[in-house]
Amino acid sequence: MEQFDVAVIGGGPGGYVAAIRCAQLGKKTVLVENRDLGGTCLNRGCIPTKTLLHTAELYDEIRGHGKELGLAADGLAVDYAALAARKDAVVARLRRGIEGLVRGRKISLVKGSAVFTGPGTLAVTDAGVAGGRPRESAAEYAAADIIIAAGCEPSSIPVPGAELPFVLNSDAVLSLAKAPESAVIIGGGVIGVEFATLFNALGKKITIIEMLPKILTGMDDSVCAAMTKTLTKRGVEIHTGAKLLEIAEKPGTGGKAAALCRYEEGGAKKEAFGDMVIMAVGRRPVTKALALEAAGIACERGFINVDERMATGVPGVWAIGDVTGKVQLAHVASAQALVAAANIAGENAKMRYDIIPACVYTNPEIASVGLTEEAAKAAGLPLKIGAFPAAANGRSMIMNVNDGFVKIITHAETGEILGAHIMAPRATDMIGEIAALMKAEGTVEELAATIHAHPTVSEMIMEAAHDVEGLCCHKL
Ligand code: NAI
Repeated sequence: MEQFDVAVIGGGPGGYVAAIRCAQLGKKTVLVENRDLGGTCLNRGCIPTKTLLHTAELYDEIRGHGKELGLAADGLAVDYAALAARKDAVVARLRRGIEGLVRGRKISLVKGSAVFTGPGTLAVTDAGVAGGRPRESAAEYAAADIIIAAGCEPSSIPVPGAELPFVLNSDAVLSLAKAPESAVIIGGGVIGVEFATLFNALGKKITIIEMLPKILTGMDDSVCAAMTKTLTKRGVEIHTGAKLLEIAEKPGTGGKAAALCRYEEGGAKKEAFGDMVIMAVGRRPVTKALALEAAGIACERGFINVDERMATGVPGVWAIGDVTGKVQLAHVASAQALVAAANIAGENAKMRYDIIPACVYTNPEIASVGLTEEAAKAAGLPLKIGAFPAAANGRSMIMNVNDGFVKIITHAETGEILGAHIMAPRATDMIGEIAALMKAEGTVEELAATIHAHPTVSEMIMEAAHDVEGLCCHKL
């Protein structure tokens, strides 16, 4: 049995970052991965979707506003096969980068599926490895510390027809060689809304069926309402408070618009049609095959219980990323990885979840950090709120964007920034400014007094900060 200081299960943005940091801290580290390095984020999530969205938005902008922008692009067309090939190339290049980092840090990379055989021991088999040959016997590893970073996978709902071949999860959608002409998306969460943005921009007919009263539940109400309006204006059909009853094959369609979704909305039974159904109803942890019981690790609905130090309660066993069921975001997994690695190295690091930027790659983009207005009110905090519209921002106008705003929620007495919500071009790149200030415990006065370059979209943040005290010069 080979002995290591640290064994990491899973090579996503949680696991590979944990392995690299442990190696940086002088630990002899092994990283076990049964698919590709980079995990969901790189191979089946963040990177492929944003690559597709980049092209879709260029196409949509030129197709919809080319003439107005001074661009004649007659015959403009989407070559989806070429787009899919570019997506794969971007993913492959980033994956090679991670492989280089892992190799460069002298981390032992083992291809296979890890199974606990005890609190500090793992057996690695070829089970679940694509193209893997069965081994005579499993390779065995012992480690003083084991970090579980096995991630999550798309889940489904038990409605009749959910198993039909034209019902796709996000993994399958990202592998398509051809875009559907129409689709019904079940779930108006982040994945549902990003796929709606993608296929709508490519000129396809999209219907969203969401069970809850609004899309993007969890985000500030103002953002949910504004994005609902923007998507609807662009032709996406959104049904909220809608209960999916059944998925079936549409009869007599001759292969066209094959899927039929029956749902209930406001007490009435309705139908929606599409080439395919995209299931985007959340993700479940990948912990079943790990034999956690062999190490006595406690789970709840498959998610591994951890404390703020990322400890599982079993000495020397840690868990990070989507398996912890905290916040299913790549950057949270990486942050948890650094906390776990620091604790393995003898520190007492703790994970905080109060300042986490969350981004949705819609058009315009959405980004938020901290409390929503609803949560801040529910907490009974005294609030002062400032806002600034994209329609009054020069750079947004130059970029041909009129929808959107920046909203900053502050503590009325201390000026502390409690939360910020942005729907604007490059919102996802701008949210870091506010997150950094929140981390440094800065005040909204400091944000307002920070000179922001002109003309930039980021001026909206400064203007909203001034607006908290009613002192915004570019707003009546
Ligand atoms: P989600 O939890 O964000 O949204 C799922 C939606 O499906 C919810 O609104 C839920 O009410 C709805 N739903 C559930 N059952 C339903 C039913 N029977 N009928 C109709 N609607 C139903 O999950 P999603 O969008 O699948 O994303 C999974 C995770 O991946 C999230 O935690 C998200 O944060 C993360 N992610 C993050 C991205 C980003 O940061 N840009 C992009 C994509 C995913």
